[in-house]
Amino acid sequence: MKTKIAPSILSADFSKMGEQIEMISNADFIHCDVMDGRFVPNLTFGMKMIKDIKKTTNIPLDVHLMIEEPENYIEEFIKSGADYLTFHIEATKKIDHCLDLIHLHNIKGGLAISPDTPIYTVESHLNKCDIIVVMSVYPGFGGQKFIPASLEKITALKKMITDKNFNTLIEVDGGVTFDNAKNIMDAGADILVAGNTVFGNKKPKNAIKTLQN
Ligand code: DX5
Ligand code: ZN
Repeated sequence: MKTKIAPSILSADFSKMGEQIEMISNADFIHCDVMDGRFVPNLTFGMKMIKDIKKTTNIPLDVHLMIEEPENYIEEFIKSGADYLTFHIEATKKIDHCLDLIHLHNIKGGLAISPDTPIYTVESHLNKCDIIVVMSVYPGFGGQKFIPASLEKITALKKMITDKNFNTLIEVDGGVTFDNAKNIMDAGADILVAGNTVFGNKKPKNAIKTLQN
């Protein structure tokens, strides 16, 4: 089966977003990194960007919230056109409430976990997660190096999901390259996020194609 690739527009040129989206028309998802300058030491964009991108493409939007108290914004992001919505388990006390909100609106969603957060923390929520984002870099910036210990987390999470007979997808986010993509998939990933590897390439479509095979 082909690997599903979600290019992160964090590495795109924001001044020509429409063109940049056209340049990744063979992507399986478009990964949108929302940062609030509180949960992470960086700011990106909010609902307006998601709404505007949604008008230009049929590729599902995979919105990754790196914001404190995501419960305050989840419905806005759903209205803006998110098809997949994930938020950080470290960012809220209202985890179940957030997951319920996502499902109430019939979109897909789940939790993202930072590199220092152990896998067992998601176990009791897995029944409500269509997807888990395993961060393989510290959230906040594109272009960082893949943290090798992430591979063990992916394998352990895959086993947990399989043992429970769930269909939860594993998305791996951060530092994905042509060199490590196969190992990450072999560890149990279903979707790979790629920012720098796609948008740092002169031919983003070819980069996606290479990662997909
Ligand atoms: C980091 C973001 C990632 C990042 C991936 O906080 O969540 O999605 O943009 O970029 P690369 O592939 O360049 O590591
Ligand atoms: Zn991300």
